[in-house]
Amino acid sequence: MPRQYFATVARGLESLAAQELEELGAESVEPGFCGVEFKGDRKLLYQVNLWARLPFRILVRLEEFACRDAEDLYQGIQRLSWQDYLTPGYTLAVDTTGKTQRLNHSHFTALQVKNAIVDQQRQQFGARSHIDTQTPDVRINVHLHRDRCVVSLDSSGSSLHRRGYRPAVGAAPLKESLAAALIRLSEWQSDLAFMDPLCGSGTLPLEACLQGLNMAPGLFRQQFGFETWPDFEAPLWQALQAEAKAQQLTQLPMPIWGSDYNPDVIEQARQNAHKCRIADHIWFEPIDLQDIVPPTDCGILICNPPYGERLGNAQALGGFYRQLGQILKQRFKGWTAFVLSGNKALSQSIGLKSSQRTAINNGSIPCQFLKYELY
Ligand SMILES: C[S@@+](CC[C@H](N)C(=O)[O-])C[C@H]1O[C@@H](n2cnc3c(N)ncnc32)[C@H](O)[C@@H]1O
Repeated sequence: MPRQYFATVARGLESLAAQELEELGAESVEPGFCGVEFKGDRKLLYQVNLWARLPFRILVRLEEFACRDAEDLYQGIQRLSWQDYLTPGYTLAVDTTGKTQRLNHSHFTALQVKNAIVDQQRQQFGARSHIDTQTPDVRINVHLHRDRCVVSLDSSGSSLHRRGYRPAVGAAPLKESLAAALIRLSEWQSDLAFMDPLCGSGTLPLEACLQGLNMAPGLFRQQFGFETWPDFEAPLWQALQAEAKAQQLTQLPMPIWGSDYNPDVIEQARQNAHKCRIADHIWFEPIDLQDIVPPTDCGILICNPPYGERLGNAQALGGFYRQLGQILKQRFKGWTAFVLSGNKALSQSIGLKSSQRTAINNGSIPCQFLKYELY
C-alpha cells in the first residue's frame, strides 16, 4: 500500500527536487511550497533517503485535521493510534513548523502534542515515552498552516544535507544539498571537466564528484531516523546499501578541480574528500584567482564568490567581481560558467551578459544563479 511522503527542500528548488524524486521512482510527485509531495512504499522511502541529493528531510504523512486552537490540536493528536509508531520503550521528540492565529508559539505547540501522545500511552500501557530532543527513536513533525495541522514522522532524523563526510568547513560553506542543486541546474555531466576556483572547503567539487562516481550521498551518514522505528526492515536497508555500493564507478571520464587562495580551506577540502574516499578523483590546489588557468578547452565552472553578507566587504568586493568577469572572458573561452551571487550590484560588476538567471535562496539570503556562455 503506497504511503504519502513529503520531501522538504529549500525555497526555489521544488521543481528540481521533484525531477530528482521522479528519477528515483517516486509516484504522484507534486511540487509544493518548500517541499514536494510524493507516494511510494517503504523501499522507496529508504531509497530516497539514501540517494536524494536535494531534500533536507523525508516526512511520512500520518494525518491532517482542522486545528484552530490547543484543544483541537490535543484532540486531533489523540485520535491517532500512537502504538502503531512508538510504544513507551521508544524515545520521542516533536518538531513544529508554521502557526495558526491561536497556536503561534512553537514550544507550546510541541508540548501540547507531546502531552496528547504520552497521555494516550499512560492510559494504554501505564507508562510513557521519554523525550530526547537530540537523538530520539521517533521524531514527530507537526506543521500548522491556515488552521490545519499535518502530522508526520521524520524518516531522516537529522537533515539530509549533513552527508556525514564534512567535519571540516570553511567560513561560509554552501549546504551540500544546495551545491547538488546548483550542479543539477548547470546540467553538468561527468564527461565534462568541472571546476570551482573559489572552492572554500570544497562543497561543489565534492558533490560533483559524488554525482559523477554515482555514489549515494547517504552512504556516509551514521544513521537515519527510520532505523530506530519499530517497523525498521534491516535486511531491506542493508540490501539497498549493498546495491548502492555495487553501483559506484571507479573512474571519472574527466577531472574535477577545486582551488582557493586560502591554503587552510584547501586542506579542509582535502580532508573532506579523504573522508568520503574520493581524494584520488579531485585536484584541490591553493591558487589565487588571478593565477587561475583553465585546465581544459571546455567544461563547467561553478563558484560562489564572497558577497559581503558573510564574507568580505560589499564595496571592496566590486573590484574582485570585475576581475572574475575579466578572467572568465579572457581565459575561459569554450567554458560555461555559473556564479551564485547574493548581491545584485556585485553581479553587475562581473560585466558579462548572463544567458540565464535562476532565483535561489542560500539559507536566508536571496541569491541569483547566473549562467555565462563564454566564447
Ligand atoms: C563564499 S566562499 C565559498 C564557499 C565554498 N563554496 C564552500 O562551500 O565552502 C568564497 C571563497 O572564495 C575564496 N576567495 C576569496 N578571494 C579569493 C581569491 N582572490 N582567489 C581565490 N579564492 C578566493 C575565499 O577564501 C572563500 O573560501
